[in-house]
Amino acid sequence: MSEFVRLEVDGGIGTIRLDRPPMNALNGAVQDGLLAAATEATERADVRAVVIYGGPKVFAAGADIKEMVDRTYADLAGRPLRLSTACDAIAAIPKPVIAAITGYALGGGCEVALAADLRVAGDNAKLGQPEILLGIIPGAGGTQRLARLVGPARAKELVYTGRFVDATEALARYVDGPAVALAAAKAAIDGGLETDLASGVRLEAHLFAALFATEDRA
Ligand code: CAA
Repeated sequence: MSEFVRLEVDGGIGTIRLDRPPMNALNGAVQDGLLAAATEATERADVRAVVIYGGPKVFAAGADIKEMVDRTYADLAGRPLRLSTACDAIAAIPKPVIAAITGYALGGGCEVALAADLRVAGDNAKLGQPEILLGIIPGAGGTQRLARLVGPARAKELVYTGRFVDATEALARYVDGPAVALAAAKAAIDGGLETDLASGVRLEAHLFAALFATEDRA
């Protein structure tokens, strides 16, 4: 974990709290902290569901632009961005993961939210992928996850324009749900989306059958 990211566990909910005022800009320490928090949330049995939260004012305004400004092609080519690795770790948490968004979730901040299963957005939330306005594109899975979530046409419109969108969603509760079955549901949905329908249905059948050997099913 880092000084800017902590995992707070209470009543089965692990809250990954981003805390780097004023905008929770995702510098290297925050990116490493996110990866560590996602790993800890994955491993801890007392964490049944995960919330990612940036506090009451802002979720995260993106990768730290001041840190990015001197990066060169040689710095970035041929290796995954640390933020991308952190987003992959969040997406791989085998438990329900909710991004609770207040204020801005922009660029890499939006990508962190996209790595969650669900996004719950407050009235003041503003989401966007404004990288194009900096002459770059989303670099932590945004082009991929956004397109899979909202379809390529809407994703392209958002990525091409960099405009911010408001969003409001309803909150559902998963903490009391069956942990193994929830992990299987997530593995079936995510795994199935990465393959053809027939293989996805076979994966589902395998996971479905496996659940019959668990206490969750009983
Ligand atoms: N990185 C570093 N610092 C940032 C930042 C960022 N992404 N976003 C905001 N800040 C800083 C500002 O520089 C400012 O710092 P100072 O007070 O020291 O000048 C402080 O936060 C407050 O910001 P503003 O004064 O701009 O506040 P505002 O309310 O007028 O605007 C905002 C807020 C709309 C979020 C605006 O700050 C903004 O547009 N920020 C940049 C958003 C952005 O482009 N994000 C994408 C980054 S690239 C990326 O994420 C790549 C990737 O895919 C991995």
